[in-house]
Amino acid sequence: MTLAEKLRQLIIEAQGRAADAASLEDVEALRVKYLGRKGALAELTGLLGQIDAAEKPEAGREANRAKNEITAALEARSVAVKASGGTVGSAAKEDLSLPGTAPLVGGLHPITQVIDEICDIFYRLGFQIASGPEMETDYYNFEALNIPADHSSRDDLATFYIENGKLLRSQTSTVQTRIMEKERPPVKVLAPGRVYRPDATDATHSFMFHQIEGLCVDERVTFADLKGVLLAFAKQFFGADVKMRFRPHFFPFTEPSAEVDISCGLCKGSGCRSCAQKGWLEILGAGMVHPNVLRACKVSPEKYSGFAFGFGVERIAMLKWGVNDIRLFYENDMRFLRQFSA
Ligand code: DAH
Repeated sequence: MTLAEKLRQLIIEAQGRAADAASLEDVEALRVKYLGRKGALAELTGLLGQIDAAEKPEAGREANRAKNEITAALEARSVAVKASGGTVGSAAKEDLSLPGTAPLVGGLHPITQVIDEICDIFYRLGFQIASGPEMETDYYNFEALNIPADHSSRDDLATFYIENGKLLRSQTSTVQTRIMEKERPPVKVLAPGRVYRPDATDATHSFMFHQIEGLCVDERVTFADLKGVLLAFAKQFFGADVKMRFRPHFFPFTEPSAEVDISCGLCKGSGCRSCAQKGWLEILGAGMVHPNVLRACKVSPEKYSGFAFGFGVERIAMLKWGVNDIRLFYENDMRFLRQFSA
């Protein structure tokens, strides 16, 4: 290797080391090592006198270039080191006490939490958890549930119809028939899931929401069983001091039917804004399974009887947490959702 080549190599080496220097002391040490009186450059230029005359001009030029380039590299590095507060890239000098970046921890959506909690309570009461399709036929959504052809819920304005002749189920009561066709009584199931209705969206309505359907069919099942099961659920979910009342109502698939209220948790029944001064809050619909529904499932109404109930999950979640607008559940606003992470 000629002297000129050695000098060129020295430049590359010195530039590399300069770029790695982590402190001003490191830069100074490199200056001494490469440019000092007994440094590497001095050592090589000392050889100038010993080489062939023909090689001297090139070697001389490289020696000058080495001095300039190495000086420039060290200069640039010391500016960079100063700009970064004296040290850069040195692991030993990092401040390990600085707080780190916490990873975002996910959580269950509040609606999922309420569904899980309700399923858990009914599971302990002996109910199995079931599900059915969201895209349904007219038969399961209406006909098998004893809903007459001219019922208003069959209207285009009350149900989403799909071009393939099917519809988006408007209630989880569809699961009653689907289960009873497959499993003979005794049947005791709870079916949570999404339902769809072409309602205009506002603080209490959404085109999609969740319902939970309950069904219990066996020999000698009575209205007293329905009341016992629902009261046991309400005490578990809303607290032991909750009161419940049944108001006569009409549903095509149950007879007799009732709407069920619980006492308002805020005013304990004396009347407040949350319960519109009534002291009661409606939470579900229920009743004794209509004989026509049993017959549609080829279950004998002479031998078997049963109760059914259905409630809206969002409504229960809003009562539980005092949420005043259903849309908050669907907007994916993390400021809202994070409040429910365990
Ligand atoms: N399916 C009814 C609704 O969407 C709720 C309901 C009422 C379900 C009474 C029932 C029942 O099982 O017995 O409004």
